[in-house]
Amino acid sequence: MRRKKNPKDSYTIMTHLVMPNDTNHLGDLMGGILMRWMDVAGAMAGMRHCNSPVVTAGVDHVSFDLSIPLGAMVVLEGWVTRAFTTSIEVFIEVFKEDLDGQRTKCNEAFFTFVSLDRETRKPIQTPLVEPGTKREHALYDGALRRRELRLIMAGRMEPGEAGHLKALFDKPDTSR
Ligand SMILES: CC(C)(COP(=O)(O)OP(=O)(O)OC[C@H]1O[C@@H](n2cnc3c(N)ncnc32)[C@H](O)[C@@H]1OP(=O)(O)O)[C@@H](O)C(=O)NCCC(=O)NCCS
Repeated sequence: MRRKKNPKDSYTIMTHLVMPNDTNHLGDLMGGILMRWMDVAGAMAGMRHCNSPVVTAGVDHVSFDLSIPLGAMVVLEGWVTRAFTTSIEVFIEVFKEDLDGQRTKCNEAFFTFVSLDRETRKPIQTPLVEPGTKREHALYDGALRRRELRLIMAGRMEPGEAGHLKALFDKPDTSR
């Protein structure tokens, strides 16, 4: 039987201090550096869930809502929201933390990682996810729709095959 793991098993927190090398010409954290940190945090969450190496298959839409200045502390938190067959979805949130310890959310993204066999480097089945909290359940439920959307965007699924996504746009039958 396929093993089940809790999102807490993959929960990963990573903290960085924004140094001069991490900034753009305006003195704020570069988007590409933040993407790298998010990718690494996501990979670690994925490895904890899968107990295998993982590779990034894709990243959904990322928006940079707030700039993060030189000298700021940046906290990245992530966990596996849902497992499919060989792939998993990882949710990453990014916060800047001030010296009083107050955190402000700056952005978030969903990454897809694929679990690989250590020897052959071929995709292998992952453990399933068993959500616990209300938030974990909400992310778990939404993961099927997001998967369909990203597979359509990647040219790996025909829009007509996307049942969970289609249900969002179906008009309720209000006839008597
Ligand atoms: C990701 C990769 C392993 C997929 O290999 P593949 O031969 O296409 O394998 P499959 O078709 O069996 O797909 C494997 C899984 O990846 C998923 N996948 C592949 N491309 C995807 C994409 N663009 N977005 C989301 N999921 C994707 C598939 O849906 C499948 O998931 P499932 O088994 O849960 O249904 C392969 O393309 C690869 O190695 N890419 C390079 C990864 C890399 O170098 N990343 C950056 C450095 S870590």
